[in-house]
Amino acid sequence: MTDAPLLEIRNVKKYYPVQKGRNGTALAVKAVDQVSMTVNHGEILGLVGESGCGKSTLGKTILRLHDITDGEILFQGQDITHLTEKQMRPLREKIQIIFQDPYASLNPKKKVIQSVMTPLNVSGKYTKEEKLKKVKDILNEVGLSEKFLDKYPHEMSGGQRQRVVIARALINDPELVICDEPVSALDVSVRSQVLNLLKDLQKERKLTYIFISHDLSVVEYLCDRVAVMYLGRIVELACKKDLYKRPLHPYTKALISAIPVPDLHTKKEEIILQGEVPSPLNPPKGCLFSTRCAYAQQRCKNEVPKLISPAEPDGTERSVCCFLYEQPK
Ligand SMILES: Nc1ncnc2c1ncn2[C@@H]1O[C@H](COP(=O)(O)OP(=O)(O)OP(=O)(O)O)[C@@H](O)[C@H]1O
Ligand code: SF4
Ligand SMILES: [Mg+2]
Repeated sequence: MTDAPLLEIRNVKKYYPVQKGRNGTALAVKAVDQVSMTVNHGEILGLVGESGCGKSTLGKTILRLHDITDGEILFQGQDITHLTEKQMRPLREKIQIIFQDPYASLNPKKKVIQSVMTPLNVSGKYTKEEKLKKVKDILNEVGLSEKFLDKYPHEMSGGQRQRVVIARALINDPELVICDEPVSALDVSVRSQVLNLLKDLQKERKLTYIFISHDLSVVEYLCDRVAVMYLGRIVELACKKDLYKRPLHPYTKALISAIPVPDLHTKKEEIILQGEVPSPLNPPKGCLFSTRCAYAQQRCKNEVPKLISPAEPDGTERSVCCFLYEQPK
């Protein structure tokens, strides 16, 4: 493990152009706006926030599944922001993604052996025998026996399908895996099994995950650090312990207060957020959270707060985007 981050993103923007208005004025959905963060080797970084806040767009931008509007993405120190598809090809083995719906991720006409072997065929590094051995080994690692080799997606359960997707993502030994809500589409009964599998694989293979979820309990269980997104921006980033024990940003406070408590005798005061998430086509002028924040001042409606790193009593690193934590000058 080296000290340099595995992934560094700097001021990344992804805007989707849309036509709107009678005069056809060009507008853009600011799905990801000025996001900067680093992901370290071997860590699990959680990415949380309400639906539509830009989590998947950020994941796809890192993978370069679409063009980036602005900013820089560095993987293992290499600037990959503007690499062509051909230049990206060797890196595709190293950065993988696991999507929410395993049924949609798998070709219904392909048997498990064909789906899992595809990345090996693309890499062109192995003989037929080596490929078969690798497929059997990885299936075994994700808890599927050889009898699954000849099954089609419709012959398996959701949990088994997601195990196949995980096997396919890991067969070329990636460094970074972006897990985009990997258990949300599964039955509650198999969610924890798949989560535990992902956790075990991460530990054994020293993988790095960006784990996208709107479920803060799952993120607390799995992640080392957590980034909270709101309307395309990161509003807080901290290690898991600090974030859950002492959230700083008013939005994080509300999200954490809404996590159900398993113990019926423990009372918890939930912060109910007022209003809806504003449209990313027409975001508020000042602080993006100002229309729903109980602490909003006049300044919050006019000025945009920066992501700052307030001094923590124990010296740990965290960032928050809120005027409440500005140090007096
Ligand atoms: N291809 C696209 N064209 C236009 N707008 C898009 C496109 N893809 C996403 N968006 C918009 O970008 C914003 C962010 O979407 P994104 O899917 O990244 O959110 P998310 O946080 O992953 O949400 P969810 O939790 O529902 O998966 C949303 O407002 C969405 O409508
Ligand atoms: S900057 Fe103002 S509106 Fe934004 S989160 Fe902080 S207090 Fe609330
Ligand atoms: Mg999403």
